[in-house]
Amino acid sequence: MLGQLLLAASRSGVVRRSVSGFPLTKRVVRRFVAGESVQEARAAIERLRDANLAVTVDHLGEETLDAKAAEETAAAYVTLLRAVEPLDLGTRGEVSVKLSAVGQRLDEAMALEHAREICAAAASNGSTVTLDMEDHTTVDSTLSILRKLREDHPSTGVAIQAYLFRSEQDCRDLAAEGSRVRLVKGAYREPASVAHQAKAEVDKAYVRCLRILMEGKGYPMVATHDDRMIAITELLADRFGRTLGDHEFQMLYGIRTDRQEALAGAGHTVRVYVPYGDDWYGYFMRRLAERPANVAFFLRALGGK
Ligand code: FDA
Repeated sequence: MLGQLLLAASRSGVVRRSVSGFPLTKRVVRRFVAGESVQEARAAIERLRDANLAVTVDHLGEETLDAKAAEETAAAYVTLLRAVEPLDLGTRGEVSVKLSAVGQRLDEAMALEHAREICAAAASNGSTVTLDMEDHTTVDSTLSILRKLREDHPSTGVAIQAYLFRSEQDCRDLAAEGSRVRLVKGAYREPASVAHQAKAEVDKAYVRCLRILMEGKGYPMVATHDDRMIAITELLADRFGRTLGDHEFQMLYGIRTDRQEALAGAGHTVRVYVPYGDDWYGYFMRRLAERPANVAFFLRALGGK
């Protein structure tokens, strides 16, 4: 219930203005967001690299209907990729892109063009791009843009949300050689007509999708903090003869850092999703919605504890 309210608030302009304006909010946000500037993002990336963790970096921003804002977001990614080039991360340093932030709702062709610019900048670093998945109305468009991007940049990846009824079929379609698929449970508020609502159903759907990807020929990116899903991944890897280098785990910046380091220490590739930038509101609210304990943490910090 609280989670649903927070997801509704994540889309409310009024709540956004009051929460963002609160002076102490920033301190709390820093648990989940690496910073506002490219320099702060770069410093966080270096710390993670030194802890043997790979990264996927997200320039924070949500849906825009403004062509100039879309262009600025694409330019911000190019600037970021240039700034981290000297770190020589190769495929251990990719970026994550929300197509709605580069104009998907305004003009799909424009979003494709911007995504191509970002893919080209990533390729010049020896790196790549993964497309985040947003609400269910964007899935067909995102998969269509993915197909076009992969013609020139075959390693471009995509997130698939297990809670959507359609996702098992999408996993089947994507479980081919060279295909990078990040499997997530799903973070948006979706209607019962398109998505599982109960957590137990979402978890079962996650396992079904995971099985399809692990049995397939692609490169599964298992994005979860859930120990049961991690254990099932290891069992499936064993069953389908997968080795440490042909799949990876992913977790969010600031969440279960100890687990991230332990998995990396055991030889797994662990990639941390690193968000940075000043448009952190929607991302931050989705993290609160996932875990009521985070709301208590937020309130305690606002109270100065
Ligand atoms: P679940 O929510 O069941 O949590 C399992 C356990 O993990 C919890 O019991 C708790 O211990 C810990 N945990 C989970 N969330 C936490 C939090 N916020 N704070 C503290 N502890 C927490 N979604 C989407 O719709 N589109 C996308 O593109 C992406 N991309 C993405 C990338 C990466 C790398 C990750 C890890 C996740 C996403 N997500 C996403 C978010 C995803 O859909 C989902 O909402 C979260 O990962 C939470 O689900 P879990 O699988 O962690 O399980």
